[in-house]
Amino acid sequence: MKFKISDQISAIKPYEPGKPLKEIQREYNISNAIKLASNENPIGFSPKVYDAVTKNMKDMNRYPESSAPVLTNKLAKKFDISTKNIVIGNGSDDIIALLAHGFLNPEDEALMPLPSFLMYEISVKTAKGKPVMVPLTDFSTNLEGLIHKITSKTKLIFITNPFNPTGSTISNDEFMNFSRKVPDDVIIVVDEAYIEFVRDKTVYNSLQKPLQDPRIVTLRTFSKAYGLAGFRVGYGVMDPDIAQILNRIRQPFNVNTLAQAAAVASLDDEAFLNKSIQTTHDGLDFLFKALSQFDINCLPTQSNFLMLDLKTDATIVFEKMLKLGVIVRSMKSYGFDTFLRINTGTPQENIAFINALKKVLNN
Ligand SMILES: Cc1ncc(COP(=O)(O)O)c(C=O)c1O
Repeated sequence: MKFKISDQISAIKPYEPGKPLKEIQREYNISNAIKLASNENPIGFSPKVYDAVTKNMKDMNRYPESSAPVLTNKLAKKFDISTKNIVIGNGSDDIIALLAHGFLNPEDEALMPLPSFLMYEISVKTAKGKPVMVPLTDFSTNLEGLIHKITSKTKLIFITNPFNPTGSTISNDEFMNFSRKVPDDVIIVVDEAYIEFVRDKTVYNSLQKPLQDPRIVTLRTFSKAYGLAGFRVGYGVMDPDIAQILNRIRQPFNVNTLAQAAAVASLDDEAFLNKSIQTTHDGLDFLFKALSQFDINCLPTQSNFLMLDLKTDATIVFEKMLKLGVIVRSMKSYGFDTFLRINTGTPQENIAFINALKKVLNN
């Protein structure tokens, strides 16, 4: 290309989303493919969302409300905090990018586990910062390793709890011990995209006692337990000084009117949220049992997904599963050559996955 792009940007590996259902159905000429590759919610979203979206359609000739005031107020009440502590984003991806752009000067460092959710690295590089990666230990975040990498250039640390892709967690004690060793001027981003699915009560949850530590920025999303991935809504909870910076640089209309209304409506439907969490737990219990019956080892998980070790090239299995209309995620590009990651589906999807896997492995 004759146009010269920045060296930093040219080094960015593009984010690879899970294969879309419609694409697979077209490619393999099948109508009933199932997707367990992107940690989405298999049971949809609250019926209240339909009503809210329909009602708001008539206002779609207008720009959205910039500060998403109804949603922000509702979240402030839910967590007993001020609206000044909340920034709403076009998915939590948006907040990750805003943090990188707001707090990194060229060559400033952002620490993160390796592998990690790819948007941390992409956002840091796009902001001209330097990602510093710390390999996992035993499929879990190496908190001591992160501490050892802190320098005077470190501005942000990204941690994910529960961790994507392995499903491991950080306990309350582990987090407290870690945060004590982080300097006062470093922001600790705690990405809790999957926190609603956690069953283990010892796992750290930053919004149980929010805002006790001004360095902590919590990321939450409506994409997973609430099932609103296609609407794109997430939020951050943080010190008002940090929130003010993010609000200054975000796009004024980053969250559209229908997405705001959908998020508000879904907060009003606790019954749906509970059903969604229960379906996930039932799915995990079923999958663990079924996989253990044909001797497949799974990593423990507190999330809505699990990693399973096939002891053979996972990409080959992934491709064979695709042909049977089951979309899963090979973990080869994450460095786990023999692992697949799947999220829990509906009971029928879970059974279909097990049957397809049996077929592939028996051939
Ligand atoms: C760890 C983690 N953080 C953030 C996100 C992005 O969520 P959102 O849809 O809110 O942008 C994901 C999505 O898969 C994720 O796995």
